Amino acid sequence: MNCFKITGYNFFIIISISFVINQGIPDLRYKQASALAGTKLYFFGGWFTTTTASPEVWYLDLSNSLNTTTLTWYNDATMPLGYIYGSACVSPIDNTTVYLIGGRMFNLNVQHFYYASEFSIFNSNASQSRAKWQYLNVNGNTNLFYKRDGMQAVFNNEKIFIYGGSNFSVDHPSLDQLFGDMNVLDTTTMLWLPLESSVYSSAAYTATLLPNGQIIYIGGLTNVSSGYAKMSEVQIFDTIFLNWFNKCVSGDSIGARLGHSAVLSHDKSIIIYGGSYGINNTQVFPDTAILNIKTWRWSTPNISQVNAPPPLTFHSATIYNNYMIIAFGLITNVENQTFSNKIYILDTQNYTWVTAISFNSSNLNRLSTENNFMRIEAYILIGIIVFIY
Ligand SMILES: *[C@@H]1O[C@H](CO)[C@@H](O)[C@H](O)[C@H]1NC(C)=O
Ligand SMILES: *[C@@H]1O[C@H](CO)[C@@H](O)[C@H](O)[C@H]1NC(C)=O
Ligand SMILES: *[C@@H]1O[C@H](CO)[C@@H](O)[C@H](O)[C@H]1NC(C)=O
Ligand SMILES: *[C@@H]1O[C@H](CO)[C@@H](O)[C@H](O)[C@H]1NC(C)=O
Ligand SMILES: *[C@@H]1O[C@H](CO)[C@@H](O)[C@H](O)[C@H]1NC(C)=O
Ligand SMILES: *[C@@H]1O[C@H](CO)[C@@H](O)[C@H](O)[C@H]1NC(C)=O
Ligand SMILES: *[C@@H]1O[C@H](CO)[C@@H](O)[C@H](O)[C@H]1NC(C)=O
Ligand SMILES: *[C@@H]1O[C@H](CO)[C@@H](O)[C@H](O)[C@H]1NC(C)=O
Ligand SMILES: *[C@@H]1O[C@H](CO)[C@@H](O)[C@H](O)[C@H]1NC(C)=O
Ligand SMILES: *[C@@H]1O[C@H](CO)[C@@H](O)[C@H](O)[C@H]1NC(C)=O
Repeated sequence: MNCFKITGYNFFIIISISFVINQGIPDLRYKQASALAGTKLYFFGGWFTTTTASPEVWYLDLSNSLNTTTLTWYNDATMPLGYIYGSACVSPIDNTTVYLIGGRMFNLNVQHFYYASEFSIFNSNASQSRAKWQYLNVNGNTNLFYKRDGMQAVFNNEKIFIYGGSNFSVDHPSLDQLFGDMNVLDTTTMLWLPLESSVYSSAAYTATLLPNGQIIYIGGLTNVSSGYAKMSEVQIFDTIFLNWFNKCVSGDSIGARLGHSAVLSHDKSIIIYGGSYGINNTQVFPDTAILNIKTWRWSTPNISQVNAPPPLTFHSATIYNNYMIIAFGLITNVENQTFSNKIYILDTQNYTWVTAISFNSSNLNRLSTENNFMRIEAYILIGIIVFIY
């Protein structure tokens, strides 16, 4: 049941100016969307400390090495409005096309939220900034993700699987709703496939795709009045047979959480990091836990705190060559919680936090040579957005 329809018009007058900027460092933030496109680790938007959402797109180049004390950040074509709490996934067919789904758009000028209603497609290959972004209407259901956030989209077999989410609003908290629907977009036809919903609703969970096509959903908020998903049970969606089932998980007791991150390790375990609990984003324990998907047991690794991140929530995590790369987020264990703009790297082969890694570049696709500074095209967008309900 969708109460809102966007049948309006977006008029954009685009004035493009080219200039060159030095590499910079992104501000502190959380709730950014993140995606690994080939060797570029992208971050889209996020909520700034300055109480606005960022329209920036940043990336780290993983083609050679990464040193967390001397990071080289690259700016890419910005988004038209500030963007938070959306979901990004990359097409494994080309490893360059990023789909952004849901989330909230923030108009910096009027300090007001709009909601991302359509898919945004980002082509990380395009040389022209203008060719990078494409805003898409999907036939039949353009308003599906209007006012919807807290999802994690998963790309498998030319389809994008998007489960649940929430439509929390600062203005109307009594109308907040969690969703449990599974929406599947066939990217070859750009049509939605009708699918069965989960029995649970959830937002701010993690979704991890296994090689067998099953998506493991862990944690999240399952009830608006502070109900959290049990960590002793996971929901599984099979992208081949298109059905839901649950699995009990034994082992260590793992604190319920939302806003955590999850990656699949080389030995096919799911590593989760961080997250928070309750209205004040309270720290959760243990911060790092491992779900063995052969034995369906949780374990807590004994990790040295040397070079470890602070406890974070609404950060990002990506696995790349056996390294779990953690970025940004809200630091939960301090009195006055603050955001982070730091990168932390976990060597998942021996559970050691490291500060620098180098990759054997002969095994990786090299990017075309880039200088220490890069050319970006800045857009001034004057948008008139008419929403007809
Ligand atoms: C995309 O990346 C994945 C893993 O990083 C790799 O297995 C796959 O071969 C890549 N696909 C293409 C088309 O390069
Ligand atoms: C990106 O570039 C590679 C190599 O040039 C090409 O194979 C791929 O199709 C491109 N992807 C897109 C989305 O244009
Ligand atoms: C959330 O979605 C439900 C169901 O579509 C709707 O009744 C409610 O008004 C929405 N809440 C907000 C804050 O938009
Ligand atoms: C959420 O929790 C409250 C209190 O436990 C309960 O009354 C309500 O039915 C729950 N809502 C859903 C959708 O499960
Ligand atoms: C959240 O923090 C506020 C301000 O410190 C405090 O008054 C409130 O009791 C806290 N709520 C919970 C559930 O801890
Ligand atoms: C964790 O590792 C440290 C250092 O290697 C060791 O001193 C400690 O006993 C270990 N703790 C457990 C519970 O294994
Ligand atoms: C937290 O903020 C309050 C109010 O600004 C301030 O009084 C307090 O000293 C701060 N605490 C810390 C640990 O920074
Ligand atoms: C962890 O493994 C890496 C190689 O995978 C090695 O370089 C590093 O020294 C190891 N660290 C520890 C503490 O054993
Ligand atoms: C990372 O950069 C710092 C500062 O330049 C340097 O001191 C350190 O040796 C580098 N680490 C590695 C492993 O290269
Ligand atoms: C990089 O990998 C290639 C092929 O796997 C290997 O021949 C070469 O020795 C490696 N180089 C380094 C510096 O490890």
